Amino acid sequence: MTDAVHDVARGSERLLRIGVPSKGRLADLAAELLSDAGLTFRRTDRTLFARCRDMPVEVTFLRTDDIPVLVAENAIDLGITGADLVAESGVDVVERLELGIGSCRLALCVADDAPLADPAALHGKRVATSFPRITRRWLGDRGVDVHLVELSGSVEIMIALGVADAVVDLVETGSTLAANRLRVLADIGRYETVLIQNRDVADAELVDRIVRRLQGIVIARSWSLLEYNVPRSRLAEAEQVTPGFHSPTVMQLEDPAWCAVRAMVRRAEAHAIMERLEAIGASAVIETTITNCRL
Ligand code: PRP
Repeated sequence: MTDAVHDVARGSERLLRIGVPSKGRLADLAAELLSDAGLTFRRTDRTLFARCRDMPVEVTFLRTDDIPVLVAENAIDLGITGADLVAESGVDVVERLELGIGSCRLALCVADDAPLADPAALHGKRVATSFPRITRRWLGDRGVDVHLVELSGSVEIMIALGVADAVVDLVETGSTLAANRLRVLADIGRYETVLIQNRDVADAELVDRIVRRLQGIVIARSWSLLEYNVPRSRLAEAEQVTPGFHSPTVMQLEDPAWCAVRAMVRRAEAHAIMERLEAIGASAVIETTITNCRL
């Protein structure tokens, strides 16, 4: 069905289309992210489309590895997928936002006990991967010529099966490597889940609104709001510990010797920052979760 026929069939103007993974952990994370950004939808069993409630947006459920090419071909305007899959597809799309989820690295791995010291030692050997484009380019840049075995999954068992001398695979927690007695010989790249966009979207304004909304959620998830009281004599030190996103808010307390400070801090650093604040005499230090923000 052409776009126009498809639109007429649903009796509406063309909705903005966002492609999201149809299954797996990333499907849940993407749905949660969209919902937090006010793009709520309900997927009924096995449907491939879901209309968002409050925006002219349609969510399309797709295979994660098809999303880059479908964005490039303008079948969908936006897509949520792995930056690794975007790089592997080699298509020309705009990466709008890193989504702070699905972080992993792509690594060249060999058997724990293999007497291989660096990638050059793989010259003339067999390397199994589901990332042939990235692997070929990375090894080619280093002058290492290998026989590539291209697979779509279960790459981690290929050394044990005798199919390859090395594999290029994603590493997240490292448990797959440990379970298969593999070690990393070299890191090839770090990737996370991203929002990608077709170069010529029809409604750029709506796309920008969605990007801003998602950005507000992504930033909110990695920052906290810290509030504390500190003696005015120690304020300069406290401000160095919590410089804030732009600068901290400082308010005078009734007691002229004290002031109250409010500043955003990286959530991962909040505990360490609270300890440093206590050490310089701050009290009533409170961390508050931010659920949404516009900076
Ligand atoms: C991925 C990847 C690794 C594993 C890494 O496989 O290919 O095998 O996860 O994760 P870990 O470091 O946390 O163990 P996935 O489960 O997606 O299936 P696949 O082997 O079919 O690609």
